[in-house]
Amino acid sequence: MGFKRDFIWGAATASYQVEGAAYEEGKGLNIWDVFCEQKGKVFGGHTGEVACDQYHRYAEDVQLMKQMGLKAYRFSINWARILPDGVGEINPAGIAYYNHLIDELLANGIEPYITLYHWDLPYALHKKGGWLNEECVEWFGEYAKVIAEHFSDRVKFYFTFNEPQCFIALGYCGDVHAPGLQYGYREYFQICHNVLKSHGKAVLVLRKYAKQPVQIGFAPTGAFYFPETNKSEDIEVARKATFEEFDTVEGSMWHVAWLSDPIMLGHYPEEGLKKFAKYLPKITKEDMELIYQPLDFYGQNIYNAVKVRAGKEGELEIVKRYDGFPKTAIDWPVTPECLYWLPKFFYERYQKPIYITENGMSSTDWISLDGKVHDYHRIDFYHRYLKELKQAASEGVDIAGYFAWSLMDNFEWAKGYSERFGMIFVDYNTQERTIKDSGYWYKEVIEYNGENL
Ligand code: BGC
Repeated sequence: MGFKRDFIWGAATASYQVEGAAYEEGKGLNIWDVFCEQKGKVFGGHTGEVACDQYHRYAEDVQLMKQMGLKAYRFSINWARILPDGVGEINPAGIAYYNHLIDELLANGIEPYITLYHWDLPYALHKKGGWLNEECVEWFGEYAKVIAEHFSDRVKFYFTFNEPQCFIALGYCGDVHAPGLQYGYREYFQICHNVLKSHGKAVLVLRKYAKQPVQIGFAPTGAFYFPETNKSEDIEVARKATFEEFDTVEGSMWHVAWLSDPIMLGHYPEEGLKKFAKYLPKITKEDMELIYQPLDFYGQNIYNAVKVRAGKEGELEIVKRYDGFPKTAIDWPVTPECLYWLPKFFYERYQKPIYITENGMSSTDWISLDGKVHDYHRIDFYHRYLKELKQAASEGVDIAGYFAWSLMDNFEWAKGYSERFGMIFVDYNTQERTIKDSGYWYKEVIEYNGENL
């Protein structure tokens, strides 16, 4: 046993990180266009104005995906490209771009997976209050309708939000990401609630206007924990730390259950409701019904996790990482076990097929004298992580697919172009692409459906 026969092997990107063409063909401004122009916000003053220029080079990129044997491509729609003001008038050039991309993917046997929101809110909506304005539910609904009407004749798979934790915490409470605000706790919880309702609205609208039955999920992130051993008390503390600890509001910002429980189970975690009562917005029964739409799968981005064990009284103990613990270029720890334990935990809790919607690493790659990119560490990273995922699949966790982050090097948000996460190397001076060794390695994994791991 290992991966299912129809397992989806893919790679992911996001619009602002790869498209470029920020000021072309009728596209409206989004919050990242504006954020990057502000001094000191993004490493080296980098912007996504050109990025990987996928807007002009999508056909070449699809050919590279084909060469890598990818079965699916997860990309996001740049909201302001198709609705320059966020609502109202549609930009035909934006619709045409995504139509071309989708057609090109399908013509090459690659399944498109659309993410509706990967952080690039139209600036016009930001000026109206953005996610803090409850009207965002209607705006997002209108946007979802445009997507359903134009793309759902060919696209069957959708994710509403990518990592809401990240754009809310870093964008609205931390001034690290766009739009660079530092709201307080009340606004934080209001935004969470608005985003959850927007998710629900989009699911309803997508199903209503889709031209064929579609499958929908979302792609959160979180702070994750896994047990040091197989002992039930260690497993229990890891599970509890992942889903049930609500000590501080800051902690809850990275807490997966705060957003996933309402969507997957129809209620916020009790402990958080009690603990944060004084900051919470009004939460009605109707709100919860809207948020709790039946989904087809559970998406989850997972990069690393913290190893824990039960102390003498059964309390949580964090297992200290030894000095010199493996880490990636961006300083994230290498903890392959998270792809065994977390899918298991999520499957038990939410009981839906799981997609790993992102997983991967940044490394200091360059083109060697032989013209190739020998990213040995990335191969080792993926190998270790995928072996763990395979083990989970072998033990009956229903894993539908896996998307490597990322298809190609791209604009890494506040870190600009200083981090390379791709399986394809991008030379930002020439826009030349080179499939890295990891990309060829992944091709083999796909060919063997992971049997060679
Ligand atoms: C995001 C990606 C990002 C990646 C690496 C995730 O948080 O969804 O957009 O590039 O991780 O930081």
